[in-house]
Amino acid sequence: TSILVMNGPNLSRLGKREPEVYGSLTLDEINRGIAGAFPEVTFEFFQSEYEGALIEKLFEVEERGGCAGVVLNAGAFTHYSIALRDAISAIKAPVVEVHLSNVHKREEFRHHSVLSAVCIGVIAGFGVESYHLGVRALLLRD
Ligand code: DQA
Repeated sequence: TSILVMNGPNLSRLGKREPEVYGSLTLDEINRGIAGAFPEVTFEFFQSEYEGALIEKLFEVEERGGCAGVVLNAGAFTHYSIALRDAISAIKAPVVEVHLSNVHKREEFRHHSVLSAVCIGVIAGFGVESYHLGVRALLLRD
């Protein structure tokens, strides 16, 4: 089984960025934790600050074939990127939307996701565990 774990803008700053909201682990530490928790899975980890790079990665994985799915924390793109939404619609691989924070407890503008309707499900509010739960959700379908 192979799974893409993809993070969008500002998530490269995890560990330093608002640790009271997002926790103290770096993205690298989070990714190593995921890989360690699921030794049977082949992971690809990708992060970009750029919308187009995230879209290109989805298409690259799709072209390669055989990806069991994508765990996606699109950061703020979650709330307004129709382009990323259309890219998710354009691929066959199932995508799980994840967030470290409980976006529904936060500012109003974080309550709506333009991605959720084209994802198989949404996990928010469990910190690093949100990613692990996302992987588990994909494995249940496999
Ligand atoms: C986030 C929530 C988003 O609203 C925010 O823009 C992020 C991180 C989260 O993981 O909680 O960058 O996706």
